[in-house]
Amino acid sequence: MTVLKVAILGFGTVGEGVYRIIQSHADELQKVIGKKVEVAACLVKNKQKARDIHENVLVTDDFEEILGLPQLDIVVEAIVGKEPTFTYLTKAIQRRCHIVTANKEMFAHHGNELLELAKEYHVSVGFEATVAGGIPVIQTLRQLLQVNRISKIQGILNGTSNFILTEMREKKQSFAESLLLAQRNGYAEADPTNDVEGFDAFYKTMILSRIAFGEEPDWLTVEREGITGITSELINAAEKLELRFKHVASVWKEGNRIIGSVKPVLVGKEHPFYHVEGVENAVNVHSDIVGRITLQGPGAGMFPTASAMIEDLVYVSVNQKDKRCFSQYQSQAKEQPDEFWLIHGIKGTVNSQITVIEEPVEGFFVIKAAKKELEHLALQHKAVRYFSILEFEKSLVGQFEINENSSIQTFIHI
Ligand code: HSE
Repeated sequence: MTVLKVAILGFGTVGEGVYRIIQSHADELQKVIGKKVEVAACLVKNKQKARDIHENVLVTDDFEEILGLPQLDIVVEAIVGKEPTFTYLTKAIQRRCHIVTANKEMFAHHGNELLELAKEYHVSVGFEATVAGGIPVIQTLRQLLQVNRISKIQGILNGTSNFILTEMREKKQSFAESLLLAQRNGYAEADPTNDVEGFDAFYKTMILSRIAFGEEPDWLTVEREGITGITSELINAAEKLELRFKHVASVWKEGNRIIGSVKPVLVGKEHPFYHVEGVENAVNVHSDIVGRITLQGPGAGMFPTASAMIEDLVYVSVNQKDKRCFSQYQSQAKEQPDEFWLIHGIKGTVNSQITVIEEPVEGFFVIKAAKKELEHLALQHKAVRYFSILEFEKSLVGQFEINENSSIQTFIHI
């Protein structure tokens, strides 16, 4: 029986999860791959720390020692940050190892280079765990939606942010308490700023864009906002309207351009994201043949992320080729339609271009307007805050009462 030798770089929550699944699912792995999978080495920061690792496994803090092993087939990487990870993976590919990574920041920056290098050395790169934890969204796009023309992807991509928003709403906990719990559960990044300020979701969105469209939006044009500005007051006001705050990443094609945004928005009961709670992630893929698909599942934590890496270990072992084609189709470049917004921080009637729909809680309005109007309004009124409500039309049960002598419509529930 031939053996497949694996090195695990990083033995934190995710690295340890991969190690444990290789032991617990040894039979399944052997059956699918046709070889026994063995962990040959683990790269750790502190060799002295006690760990439950078999004595035959090389535990080292020196990557060169791992590269020097007589047999090494796959390098599984679960470290944080761009460097030295990118250098390690470059060397691993040059040693003709397949690689599997969970490192979204590194892969968003260097994914193209690694994929090109892997092609040159005839090895494969698995990066399922970089986006949406245990949800197989990358493989769905890479292998299962090869002919569909994708027009838009929208997702809740940061488990920590979704967990915090859910805890704040359901348990009336503070932001700080909820973040602490997310850290204790092993969901948050080493530096949680990446989670709560939207950087983590931004990197994941760029990776998805490359898989879906073959390219990314210009990073500097992507609107990026985290959840640190979402107060209990905002959450409560939204709840009275049966809306929930979700941190949503979007990337879509408009004409020949790719556009992206990562920000808190509101969703109503009919939206597939409304019931995506806690550490769950969800991804909506909009494409021309199949329509909208929603994938949902655990977005962070030891076993969900390790699950994605183990499935990737199989994917690279059987050395499948990526086939997704990126046809040069152009989507319709449309005039931006009016959207629905929850707006706060302004008194009375908004202005003649903006339609006030209802006032659920004093000082909060739902309005219908073009985004540029809101941007203009925010310039005039510094205290104003506004959040897009996705697909709000479907939530409306009632009618509009049109006031005489103005464009203002008041929404009446029936
Ligand atoms: N910190 C990340 C999250 C981990 O909360 O989604 C999974 O990528």
